[in-house]
Amino acid sequence: MRVAIIGSGPAGFYAAEALLKRADAVIDVDMFERLPTPYGLVRGGVAPDHQKIKTVIRVFAATAARPTFRFLGNVCLGRDVTVEELRGHYDQIVYATGNEADRRLGIPGEGITRCTPATVFVGWYNGHPDYRNAKIDLSVERVAVVGNGNVAVDAARILLRTPAELEKTDVAAHALEVLRNSRVREVYMLGRRGPEQAAFSPAELKELGTMEAADPVIAPSELAGCAQTTDNAETNRNLKVLRAFVERSPREGTRKLHLRFLVSPTEIVADAAGGVAGIALERNRLEARPDGTLAARGTGEIETLSVGMVLPAIGYAAERIAGVPYDEKARIIANEDGRVVDAASRAVIANEYVVGWARSGPQGLIGEHKRASAHVVEHMIADGKALAVRALPGRDAILTLLRERGVQPVSFDEWKQLDDVEVARGARRGAPRDKIVDVEAMLAVLGQN
Ligand SMILES: Cc1cc2nc3c(=O)[nH]c(=O)nc-3n(C[C@H](O)[C@H](O)[C@H](O)COP(=O)(O)OP(=O)(O)OC[C@H]3O[C@@H](n4cnc5c(N)ncnc54)[C@H](O)[C@@H]3O)c2cc1C
Ligand SMILES: NC(=O)c1ccc[n+]([C@@H]2O[C@H](COP(=O)([O-])OP(=O)(O)OC[C@H]3O[C@@H](n4cnc5c(N)ncnc54)[C@H](OP(=O)(O)O)[C@@H]3O)[C@@H](O)[C@H]2O)c1
Repeated sequence: MRVAIIGSGPAGFYAAEALLKRADAVIDVDMFERLPTPYGLVRGGVAPDHQKIKTVIRVFAATAARPTFRFLGNVCLGRDVTVEELRGHYDQIVYATGNEADRRLGIPGEGITRCTPATVFVGWYNGHPDYRNAKIDLSVERVAVVGNGNVAVDAARILLRTPAELEKTDVAAHALEVLRNSRVREVYMLGRRGPEQAAFSPAELKELGTMEAADPVIAPSELAGCAQTTDNAETNRNLKVLRAFVERSPREGTRKLHLRFLVSPTEIVADAAGGVAGIALERNRLEARPDGTLAARGTGEIETLSVGMVLPAIGYAAERIAGVPYDEKARIIANEDGRVVDAASRAVIANEYVVGWARSGPQGLIGEHKRASAHVVEHMIADGKALAVRALPGRDAILTLLRERGVQPVSFDEWKQLDDVEVARGARRGAPRDKIVDVEAMLAVLGQN
């Protein structure tokens, strides 16, 4: 079989691994990636001060070294090649395109200057080419991060780290420069539900208490309504960390991270110049839904927090790709257990599959994709056995088609050249790498323009 995988994040690479390890099938895998660089959010999402988790790329590089694997970087499905064309060159297609759009608060003032979705902020500090020119103005002293997930924690932590803590990481050089000159002194992390419902994980929460020159601050009243223990071990660990934060006295002169719960933004307040001057917050109470989970309900009690910047970190969503069925409600690629379906009729579209966040939405850690992608590969193998034999064009025909239209695919060996350049640049500042953040500059290094 010849398979096209679209997207080179964890889900795409784990699908490739599961396909290429099969003893019962001979499979060629072409992995298409819109950037010249592989690894999706491992490169563009995982925080620069979390280098250990990024070592997972060694597993992916080992997959890329398998003889029947090819990487076609700098090729975007929907821009450089169509789904219909891929259907003509491959037996099966796997969409592993992740969740690259952001979710919106849907309140007045969203989108004004210095109200910036976490997708943009994260992409900017991680040197994602799409966000290298984002205007991140850290001349303000107070920032609100909306959301209580691990992305909110990442965003808050990066704002509060010292330049010395950051320069040893692979934070983008442009971001390091702005963060070096940052005037931010206080960050507010705002949860719409209570501490027991927070989505962040205990290890990430605990890390907020270990920053060189910043301290978490939480009022005892924030935990007043919490049970001593719950039947969820993660929640109990979070509560233990939060209680420890309440107990400790913040150091004098440090930056502060204020943890607030049971508040929802109702409006982003603008100053005369049209930039963020504050955020109006409504106090919430919890109300049981029919399924027993707890929802935040507004009480009508409003306060305004004076901040100069707002970073909503409230989740991601899949981008729409021309020719690929889209589930409007879930904001993912329409699918049944990883088999792509027509969004309206739910009829299976033969030989097309989806893995990762594009399949499930934006929840879950990198390691979880290994099992999940392997599960979808089982469907592919089962369906593949029933596949009618069909003469496909030669394997290189897709390269000819792309080159004829002026698209220059970047191979895995070429990515390794970029990797070497980035690592050498990083060594100059004692960092694991200094990323090249501009696609044109990447292609110039490769002598392609
Ligand atoms: C800010 C942030 C930090 C995170 N930190 C951690 C962490 O520390 N630890 C952890 O375990 N998990 C972390 N996660 C979660 C983890 O990153 C995800 O579970 C995982 O990356 C999702 O994998 P994926 O392959 O589905 O998508 P992605 O990793 O997003 O990969 C999708 C790939 O598809 C490509 N693509 C998209 N559209 C096209 C197209 N049309 N044509 C060609 N290519 C395309 C993209 O460029 C990208 O490379 C984090 C997530 C975020 C958002
Ligand atoms: N270090 C790490 O391991 C790491 C780092 C980053 C990300 N990740 C993973 O990546 C995934 C995505 O993380 P994420 O933080 O984007 O998503 P998440 O875990 O789903 O958290 C989203 C947060 O936004 C809140 N929210 C949603 N809509 C809101 C609204 N309209 N108003 C106010 N708050 C709103 C949610 O509150 P409700 O709960 O009330 O809906 C929740 O607190 C997660 O699985 C996460 O663990 C891991």
